[in-house]
Amino acid sequence: MQWGKPSRTAWAAAAHRAAHQVLEQGRIFTDPLALRILGEDAETVARKAAERPSGRKMRIFIAIRTRFAEDAIAAALEHGLRQVVVLGAGLDTYACRSPWGDRLRIFEVDHPATQAWKRQRLLDAAIPIPSWLTFAPLDFEHQTLPESLAAAGFDSSQQTFFTWLGVVPYLTEEAVWSTLGFIANLPNGAHVVFDYSDPPASLSVEARIMHERRAVRVAALVEAFLNYFDSNELQAKLKALGFSEVEDMGPPQIAARYFPNRVGTLPDKGGHILRATTRGHQTTGKG
Ligand SMILES: C[S@@+](CC[C@H](N)C(=O)[O-])C[C@H]1O[C@@H](n2cnc3c(N)ncnc32)[C@H](O)[C@@H]1O
Repeated sequence: MQWGKPSRTAWAAAAHRAAHQVLEQGRIFTDPLALRILGEDAETVARKAAERPSGRKMRIFIAIRTRFAEDAIAAALEHGLRQVVVLGAGLDTYACRSPWGDRLRIFEVDHPATQAWKRQRLLDAAIPIPSWLTFAPLDFEHQTLPESLAAAGFDSSQQTFFTWLGVVPYLTEEAVWSTLGFIANLPNGAHVVFDYSDPPASLSVEARIMHERRAVRVAALVEAFLNYFDSNELQAKLKALGFSEVEDMGPPQIAARYFPNRVGTLPDKGGHILRATTRGHQTTGKG
């Protein structure tokens, strides 16, 4: 990211969510605040999306990852979840749309410059900041997540759900594993949902060309892709860290769940959406 400037990929992701509301009527993921936080009207959003039809795949992927994460939060609420951390929140509106009220505390962690810009966007769009939302500024590369969360009043003894959407590819592997290590070590269980990409060398020629074009575009926004993961290695490392349950959806699994009619028509490699859960390791003192 450019020092002192808000993330431009955060704007791009929000524009995709807004375009999904207009062009697909929010069929995969409904967000009534998506246009408002962007500050653009439906015609402008649709026109910009039409100027770059190749953006459709990414738009649908972003709608799916957000839907998947929010569905997983709703499922965890049934099992006692009371705390969510949105890592690298960008212009994500979950906290402002949360139907759970004070039942669910939400922390938004993001680069200080992006977070200040988001707060201004919320103000400009007259979207109130709800009582259950707390902002926690953090630069993943230079500060630690526990410090930032502790300063914001995070309760590390609570089961917690972390969403980390569209952020991991932009971080160094060191920053990624240090964050996952923190999550894995929370004493009363934690969940994390994040997305990542297969290594470019494993992609089909067509997908690799698309990926390389996107890499050039994001690098021009001063937010280069810094990492890719081999699924088997990633899953093994997550298990070794203490994540007992790992659900890793690559393109075939994503298609099976969200587009059952298109199974077999999508490539095997590409973007993944992963959910990992720990059961916690706090002892009861019994026995
Ligand atoms: C592509 S945006 C995704 C935003 C949001 N999660 C979404 O899905 O719309 C990437 C986010 O990662 C954040 N980010 C990138 N590098 C970061 C860093 N070193 N420290 C903190 N946040 C960072 C940016 O500020 C931005 O909000």
